[in-house]
Amino acid sequence: MQTLNIGLIGTGFMGKAHAIALKATPTVFSLPAMPVCDLLAEVDDELAARKARELGFARSTGDWKTLIEDPAIDVVDICAPNFLHKEMALAAIAAGKHVYTEKPLALSAAEAREMVEAAEKVGVKTLVGFNYIRNSATQLAREIVQSGEIGELVHFRGRHNEDYMSDPEKPLDWHVQRATAGAGALGDLGSHILNMAEYLTGQRISEVFGQLQTVIPRRPVPGGSGGLGEVENDDQAQALLRFDSDLIGNIETSRVATGRKMGLAYTLTGTKGSILFDQERMSELQLYRHAGPEGRRGFSTLLIGPEHPDYAAFSPAPGHGLGYNDQKIIEIRDLVEGIVNDRPLYPDFREAWRINRMIDAIEASHSRGCWVEI
Ligand SMILES: NC(=O)c1ccc[n+]([C@@H]2O[C@H](COP(=O)([O-])OP(=O)(O)OC[C@H]3O[C@@H](n4cnc5c(N)ncnc54)[C@H](O)[C@@H]3O)[C@@H](O)[C@H]2O)c1
Repeated sequence: MQTLNIGLIGTGFMGKAHAIALKATPTVFSLPAMPVCDLLAEVDDELAARKARELGFARSTGDWKTLIEDPAIDVVDICAPNFLHKEMALAAIAAGKHVYTEKPLALSAAEAREMVEAAEKVGVKTLVGFNYIRNSATQLAREIVQSGEIGELVHFRGRHNEDYMSDPEKPLDWHVQRATAGAGALGDLGSHILNMAEYLTGQRISEVFGQLQTVIPRRPVPGGSGGLGEVENDDQAQALLRFDSDLIGNIETSRVATGRKMGLAYTLTGTKGSILFDQERMSELQLYRHAGPEGRRGFSTLLIGPEHPDYAAFSPAPGHGLGYNDQKIIEIRDLVEGIVNDRPLYPDFREAWRINRMIDAIEASHSRGCWVEI
């Protein structure tokens, strides 16, 4: 069987999620090639060697450039903080490797554009980790919209709220610095819901009117010195959306939404029905059909099962649920199939560049106080 040698960079939250999924994907799906956990890079040799043992990689290095230059590596998998995506991806593309990177693609649309141009010039495959669109319930929501079952869409409402920075005593980290993260909640979480808005509606966002706010402007400097440092990006953001058609909508995003742990949720309102979804109950979809006697109409709960997209590969039993890491397994199935069968991947760098343009436009709208085109 053909193999695809993976070089993984970074082993924090996402690096581990990718490693789990890389191992599990061949047991869930029948793949045209076997992904091989070959080489792992971390900030130094010792950490890299320990993580390679823990995560089941054959080799390790304390220098990501060594990983990229290694002739055995087919796919460079970037799970490092945002500010490293561009440099790492450009080096990987120059070495002729396919690139699978975490979101957001880049710190700005200008950076993202450079990455798109480089990848398309060389002709490597690219995939960006907007994993929530791969949840079975969300794939089902898209199918229902496309089938016309809820009629013409008239409104999209989306949010992605979490509370990982709610505690004002939480020290500064790479998420809150402009140079390492770019936008704050908007880039980190808002990027997911902006991608989701276009994925679900099948329509393009054309204009935005945004508002951003830093709720906790200073945080402790790491190391316990007692000093405070500045938070350089947004804690929460919201935007009105206009799509290419008559569709309108809005999004909100926050990293200080006390109590919300995985608050990605959306409402799709159509002329004949509506869909509600909440990622904290990720194996359920609420569907309303505007049909039947008035007194019998209401939202029904669809529990995800084998007749819904990608679920049957995990389990023959309905309602047993999928988890966060299963979305990554579906993402890696798509990555492997796209590379081996030379098929387009979604969302690739070009698509993820759109998300960076939307983020920049929401920030520009906030500064100028007016609608901004994408
Ligand atoms: N798709 C999702 O649902 C999702 C969720 C969380 C994070 N992310 C994205 O994943 C990326 C990583 O986020 P995270 O939460 O895993 O961060 P993290 O801080 O937990 O992990 C980052 C890792 O990168 C390593 N690293 C840093 N510099 C490096 C270098 N020069 N060489 C090699 N390794 C280096 C760190 O040591 C650390 O292990 C970010 O872009 C983030 O936006 C995506």
